[in-house]
Amino acid sequence: MKKFYLTTAIDYANGSPHIGHAYEKILADAIIRTRRLEGEECYFLTGLDEHGQKVAETAQKQSISPKTLCDGVAEKFKGLCVRLMVDYDDYIRTTDERHKIVVRKILQKLWDSGEIYRAEYTGLYSTRAERFVQERDKVEGRWPDDIGEPIELKETNYFFRLSHYQEWLIDFLNKNPDFVVPAFRQKQVIEFLKEPINDLCISRPKSRLSWGIELPFDSDYVTYVWFDALVNYISAVGYEEERFGDYWPVDFHVIGKDILVPAHAIYWPIMLHALGIPLPRHLLAHGWWLAKSGEKMSKSLGNSVQPLDYVDFYGADAFRFFLLREMITGQDGNFSHDLFVARYNADLANDLGNLVSRLINMVGRYCSGKIPNPSSVGPLDRDIEESAQRLIPSVRMEYGNFAFHTGLEQIFSFVGQLNRYVETRAPWKLAKQTGNPTATGQLNTTLSFVAEGMRIVAELLRPIMPWIGPEILRRLGTSPVDTWENLSWATSAAGKEVLPEGILFPKVEWRESHAMS
Ligand code: ME8
Ligand code: MG
Repeated sequence: MKKFYLTTAIDYANGSPHIGHAYEKILADAIIRTRRLEGEECYFLTGLDEHGQKVAETAQKQSISPKTLCDGVAEKFKGLCVRLMVDYDDYIRTTDERHKIVVRKILQKLWDSGEIYRAEYTGLYSTRAERFVQERDKVEGRWPDDIGEPIELKETNYFFRLSHYQEWLIDFLNKNPDFVVPAFRQKQVIEFLKEPINDLCISRPKSRLSWGIELPFDSDYVTYVWFDALVNYISAVGYEEERFGDYWPVDFHVIGKDILVPAHAIYWPIMLHALGIPLPRHLLAHGWWLAKSGEKMSKSLGNSVQPLDYVDFYGADAFRFFLLREMITGQDGNFSHDLFVARYNADLANDLGNLVSRLINMVGRYCSGKIPNPSSVGPLDRDIEESAQRLIPSVRMEYGNFAFHTGLEQIFSFVGQLNRYVETRAPWKLAKQTGNPTATGQLNTTLSFVAEGMRIVAELLRPIMPWIGPEILRRLGTSPVDTWENLSWATSAAGKEVLPEGILFPKVEWRESHAMS
């Protein structure tokens, strides 16, 4: 049976993991966890992009072989996934034999069918971007930073007939308006296609670069790194094997906005179409994390975030929560240490963490550690129940549309309502009126309803906070549901024994936290 198949970009092996890599994996992981809770069978692929000039240069600088460099980087990126609780099913490396076989197979097919031709070409070559560029790549009349000053180069190479498919692609995009998510990015692709596109140079002479996959029909050349890298999405799931249909077509390629055009929205669909392979169902292009001032984060600007520092200090759940709460999927977001600490203290330490501790303390003190059965239910209580019942389908819908920030906003607004409910009811006062049955009834109902509200909150947090969600449930003496189909208001925690354990989100002193910024 076809699984829900989702991929991330494969990271370049010439650098270290940064917040952008962390975010993309967390976003993808949250989507996968949501789908699993919706009862779907899922498959989650990520990996490493290892060929190309920059990797070869980095290795040379360190006096090691490119493969040795990549082995180390692969361990680093996989370690990042473990620490972020990113639960992928497969990690593909473009130096894997299984990948190289498929790349060669595809090149041979396209060569045999005349889709690839050999030609001498004179053009402007950007060493920085590792590709031929055109005047149209200029931004406001100047070469952008990622291209730099190109040189004129005359070289014999192999070219893929991209231009041949331009009209077909435009037509495809017009017929499939939700191919690229969000929609405004699909418009950018169509805009790009208004000007003629060139054929794609898919080879590099070994005299210039040897770190790559050799062309099956000319051993003097290796494959252009993008042509090689894109193929990972099919090589990982057994292209031309029987199992391929269990995965392909992919449901979502999750990528950053910088690699949408031309790689994922132009090259990739055309490569697949020329090979007679069905197209991806969707591309999900996310935005970029910027420093608070709106500038790009980079090592040289000294404003880049080391994701592992945050994970060490605040835990994976808090870091994941911040990234998904703060970023509107598809748009850019700002990261700053102050924003992080403010959000952490307000939402996690004060609102959520406190409520869990308070609830468990009160159940311990007033109900001998067992969540009570509700008795009388008045309008104030019914409000809580109704909010919870509304929250469940609403959050499921928001998550389903990748609007994690809205889903989380709704969850935390409900947590706020639970906190106010506790304040209004003041169980500590009710507990003093021992001979008063109305007061005892209200006490039981309040604690029962807060526990049930908290259970629903914990369930809905699971895709974002994969440790905290189940941990809260454990402390409430209950366990997670299999799928959200089975999630509804049920005061099902009644009679369960709570576990008084440590604080979930210790409040952070601003000064102490600044040691790391
Ligand atoms: O592009 N905020 O690899 P990569 C959010 N190897 N996302 C960011 C970001 C930021 N500040 N910076 C980078 C490559 N990204 C290729 C992909 S796929 C067949 C080959 C995202 O390591 C970026 O948009 O430079 C991309 O999706 C991912 O991180 C990996 O970037
Ligand atoms: Mg990049």
